[in-house]
Amino acid sequence: MSDVTRLYGSSGNGRITIHDLADAKRNGERWPMLTAYDATTAAILDDAGVPVLLIGDSAATVIYGYDTTVPVTIDELLPLVRGVVRGSHRALVVADLPFGSYQSSVAQAIETGARFLKEGHAHAVKLEGGAAVMPQVRAMTAAGIPVMGHLGLTPQSVHQLGGYRVQGRGEAGDTLLADALALQDAGAFAVVLEVVPADLAARVTAALQIPVIGIGAGNATDAQVLVIHDLVGLTRGHVAKFVQPYASLADAMRDAVTRWAADVASGTFPSDAQTYH
Ligand code: KIV
Repeated sequence: MSDVTRLYGSSGNGRITIHDLADAKRNGERWPMLTAYDATTAAILDDAGVPVLLIGDSAATVIYGYDTTVPVTIDELLPLVRGVVRGSHRALVVADLPFGSYQSSVAQAIETGARFLKEGHAHAVKLEGGAAVMPQVRAMTAAGIPVMGHLGLTPQSVHQLGGYRVQGRGEAGDTLLADALALQDAGAFAVVLEVVPADLAARVTAALQIPVIGIGAGNATDAQVLVIHDLVGLTRGHVAKFVQPYASLADAMRDAVTRWAADVASGTFPSDAQTYH
């Protein structure tokens, strides 16, 4: 593997590319991907060696406070994408296309994808769906817009799916596998599989030549993705079964803010050390 970029655990010059991801699949390298929504967090994740950063439309809930990902707009996501690109120097930056910004037509998808590359400076985009969006994926990749697919639990379709539940059980697994193969055939460079049975994810991962990125899809996929807020313990309320928080940042922030606010109230902040004379 001498002249091959290792996605995780090596520094290297320049940005990770979709070709490095293809090499990783060929070499059997497993790698992490995380969401990021701002420059400061992107810099930390980049320093930690995370090779792919996603401005997920999960920004709808964790940044903008909507109940689902459905309402978030292109104009709300674009500034976040610019921040993540500016804050990172190594990661491949992938921008989620929001609901309603690519489903209508191939022309709409190309226009939206181009905006995320030209105005957001993203390196690739992600969209949700199987057979219905195949013409879009084919046309976008032909137009020079790298596309990551997203199958299984596709949160933009929550109202159609009837809730956030496991997808691809039974015969639906064969449809999902066919969709994944079709995405690959249409030119997608990777596919996210969200909340599907582990044995189905393993089948899809073995069948595809492009990387499969799992979230709630077991341990056999080529890569794993999580929402950063879930990983570091910033999420309020329900946390999904597939999440393992590795820190308790909400508790740490609450504690810091509480102690500072009490010092302000008692007059002990600022002290002389924080004062100019
Ligand atoms: O929007 C998002 O954060 C995502 C990831 C969870 C894959 O799509």
